[in-house]
Amino acid sequence: MNYSYPEASRLSNLESWQHFAQAAKAAPIDSQRLCVLKAAGLLVDISAQRASEPLAQATETLLQARQFEAWRERLLTGQVVNVTEDRAAWHTALRAPAPVHEVASEQQRMMDFVRLADAERKWRNVVHIGIGGSDWGVRLTVAAFGYAGTWRQVRFVSNIDSHAIESGLAGLDPNETLIVVSSKSFTTTETMQNAQRALEWLKGAGIQKPYNQVVAITANPQAAREWGALASHTFVFWEWVGGRFSIWSSVALTTALAVGIETLAGMLAGAHAMDEHFATAPVGENAPVQLAVSGVVNRSVLGYGSLNIAPYDFRLGYLVPYLQQLEMESLGKSVDLNGNAVDVPTGPVVWGMAGTDAQHTFFQWLHQGSDGAPVDFVVCQEASHGWREAHHTHLLANCLAQRQAMLTGKSYEQALQECRAEGHAEEHAQWLAKHRMHTGGRSSNLIVLPRLSPYTLGALLALYEHKVFTQAVIWGINPFDQWGVEYGKVLAKGITQELKGQAPLNGGHDASTRYWVEVFRG
Ligand code: F6P
Repeated sequence: MNYSYPEASRLSNLESWQHFAQAAKAAPIDSQRLCVLKAAGLLVDISAQRASEPLAQATETLLQARQFEAWRERLLTGQVVNVTEDRAAWHTALRAPAPVHEVASEQQRMMDFVRLADAERKWRNVVHIGIGGSDWGVRLTVAAFGYAGTWRQVRFVSNIDSHAIESGLAGLDPNETLIVVSSKSFTTTETMQNAQRALEWLKGAGIQKPYNQVVAITANPQAAREWGALASHTFVFWEWVGGRFSIWSSVALTTALAVGIETLAGMLAGAHAMDEHFATAPVGENAPVQLAVSGVVNRSVLGYGSLNIAPYDFRLGYLVPYLQQLEMESLGKSVDLNGNAVDVPTGPVVWGMAGTDAQHTFFQWLHQGSDGAPVDFVVCQEASHGWREAHHTHLLANCLAQRQAMLTGKSYEQALQECRAEGHAEEHAQWLAKHRMHTGGRSSNLIVLPRLSPYTLGALLALYEHKVFTQAVIWGINPFDQWGVEYGKVLAKGITQELKGQAPLNGGHDASTRYWVEVFRG
């Protein structure tokens, strides 16, 4: 099958791209424009992005040229979209209200497992072992809904550094502990080594049937079986679910054990509502598409190298690494489907921290640094605690204030007036005003959740998934593979063997690697 675009030419040679780029450069950020999109219960304020009628028209034409509708159809109907691995990326099928039989029956098995454990008040402790997509979504959901504590203590172990598993198991009663091993491939070194340590820990504590206390979550049930996992304790998902899109699958079992089985249903419903919105809303009102388009403008036309994520919600701190994996593993590509180098900058660095901590850490750079970065602010209109006046109002105010400062800035004249009003001598005031002015005109989005619920979090994550997909379509890259990461894994395997003395020193190493392999293997 030929997956290439009909135009074999580079993106920047396309007339539709050139018009888009010209229109984007000419479009202003108008601080008096208000544009708030409604999507699956979320409000997505894109007012602080470049906008104009010519840009809107050029966007439509560009999306047509990139066959956006056909690719969206392929995605949503489970056709091959991950072309380098020849598979679908059908995470949307997991959140369909009436999913296909294999999905529904696995969801049912998982719910039965959790309900029985809850009914028996079993497993005071859950140690979730997994990494990347088999970890971040679970951490995010447990922190989002279990921030005030859960009756089950949940610990996460991802890193190959065994201080992590040591810390994950420390102080737990093995008799009351369930080990959840989550790995799509069931071959990931970190996860398999940590799972082995956990198994030894159970055995060392005299547990007679340790596998009764182990759950395996995987798309490779045969490997799980060979490792020793019981069929009754193995929950599957499928090759067509990408690791970073797998929180909608059995991977969420730990979430259900920690914060309740109903959490999953809510998340699936919210994500499905966003799928519907993505599938049907016109381009101009389509929130994932609009976020994608402004992201492409900021990255590929204006040259911003990064995107800052600022969740103004303590519970959503893990949204940052979750989106780092989603965005950077998906869009960290520079070869298009035709096999050509993409000749515009693609996926940005994604970074961030929960507000207001972020304000006291790096927001200075966002306000007055020489590079700047677009920011996605995320906030809940209502909190789930009782201190609206004393806390939540401040949080909302800070979120709006930071955004406004970035957008409208502060002119030299304003700063000068301020300095004069503070009584500085004229010469000093003029000097000081230069330091206190803000250029402004820095773009951002504001995503407002009415309140944090499984439904709204599901919608939020699906919003970003579809944004990422749309950007990949515009850039003509495959967002569903990660060959760079795979290459690193292969090299690490070889070096591990050399360090263990199981393989001779590889003559292909660069000088520095060769030096350190020699030093480290002693
Ligand atoms: O980081 C690379 C990666 O392959 C991710 O895509 C994936 O989420 C992670 O490793 C873990 O993989 P697995 O679930 O197969 O253990």
